[in-house]
Amino acid sequence: MKETEKVHDYELGYHITPPKGLLNDPNGLVHYKGVYHVFFQWNQTDTTHQSKSWGHVTTKDFIHWKSHKPALEPVDWYDKDGCYSGSAVVFKEKLYLFYTGNVRGEQGERSSYQCLAVSEDGIHFEKKGPILAFPIKGYTAHVRDSKVWQGEDGNWWMVLGAQKENLTGDVLMYKSTNLVDWTLTGSMLDEPISLGFMWECPDLLKFAEKDVFVFSPQGLEAEGEKYKNIYQTGYFTGRFLENGKFIKDDQPFEEMDHGFEFYAPQTFLDDSGRTILYGWAGVMEPEVEKAVPTIKQGWLHALTSPREVHYKNGQLTQYPLSETIKLREANPITSKNAENEVIHLPSLQQDILIEWNSAAPDFVINLRNELDIHYQAETKKMTVTRTNWKTNAREERTAFLTHELTELRLLVESSLVELFLNKGEEVFTLRYFVDETNHLLNFKYMDKPLEKLMTLYSLRSFQ
Ligand code: FRU
Repeated sequence: MKETEKVHDYELGYHITPPKGLLNDPNGLVHYKGVYHVFFQWNQTDTTHQSKSWGHVTTKDFIHWKSHKPALEPVDWYDKDGCYSGSAVVFKEKLYLFYTGNVRGEQGERSSYQCLAVSEDGIHFEKKGPILAFPIKGYTAHVRDSKVWQGEDGNWWMVLGAQKENLTGDVLMYKSTNLVDWTLTGSMLDEPISLGFMWECPDLLKFAEKDVFVFSPQGLEAEGEKYKNIYQTGYFTGRFLENGKFIKDDQPFEEMDHGFEFYAPQTFLDDSGRTILYGWAGVMEPEVEKAVPTIKQGWLHALTSPREVHYKNGQLTQYPLSETIKLREANPITSKNAENEVIHLPSLQQDILIEWNSAAPDFVINLRNELDIHYQAETKKMTVTRTNWKTNAREERTAFLTHELTELRLLVESSLVELFLNKGEEVFTLRYFVDETNHLLNFKYMDKPLEKLMTLYSLRSFQ
């Protein structure tokens, strides 16, 4: 290497990334026999969206991780072109994985098989093959991403992302008593909703106040500040009835994360009753993905950090799992003042917390001379601006807070940032690629200053 050439190391220390190849959706999240299992869509050989396996890592504490060999590989007639996304449940001490087998015919025509694999130790999986009839009357071959949960009456439900023959997105429900034999109960919606051409990765989150139906629709047009990514993930609130129907509130589709890279999240309940979410910190946009600099190092994409999700007082919140705190090194940098500040970050793995005793006024945080995080108090508007790594153009994403801003938390890595506002009332996930020698964080009030407490913790890498 020439001396003048810069070394770029965009590796991540405390996010799940593939050792090589391409990672996308989180799959099969489950807490089984005291161990958290995270599976993910993984192309083991290169950084394109081909030939997906289920990558597999486990942890007991979200700090120490073990890698395992892939749980599912696309080697059977019913999944030969990809073991696509799905979920996991525990039943009678066994782990059941549900996933979609993607199959292409000679002319490229698609077939989708909903499949089952079972494990007794969480490490070795026995494929049982397709468990649902295919094709489905009134639907195209775009039916995938099985998410299974147990209903209040003990029956099992499976929701699938689907496309109707009229090329609109939908979700299908199946019911079972034994996880092997399934009966189609129909669309989960009591009335059709027109929102894009395909709904991927559906999930149902149950809270005391509401149920939240999360999905990733494809084909929404941008509307002002909304839906600016190629594909979005968002939710409807309502009630899921034990007849397989979701009665939606009269509320619009809400985006879950306002960053540039967030898609196909999945949640699960752990043994302590927490609803934990992982998302894919990426979006399927091959031309943009091809230009991601980590491709030169042979890997692409990451999962978000794990988030605890709540729904309370009409508000969905996502906040880093409390275990993240155990990654903090001792001796944080702290300051309490109303000053503008320029801080040299001691490392590129930071957990930065800024707190105000009353509503924050207008400010801009500039991170590493690249990201601008700009808050306008009057409209409670947060705007994040970055440079697009393909076009070099500046681009922005926006969210409007419900409450005045009093807390901001920024999880920083060398090429990924997650921004949480007011304990997760709004979230932004995004990648960024800049010269790794730049470690500056610049905090600047725009107009009137107000005392703030700022704490910067360096974070350790996963072990
Ligand atoms: C979402 C998705 C899923 C599919 C998987 C394939 O990102 O397209 O619908 O199962 O990725 O990798």
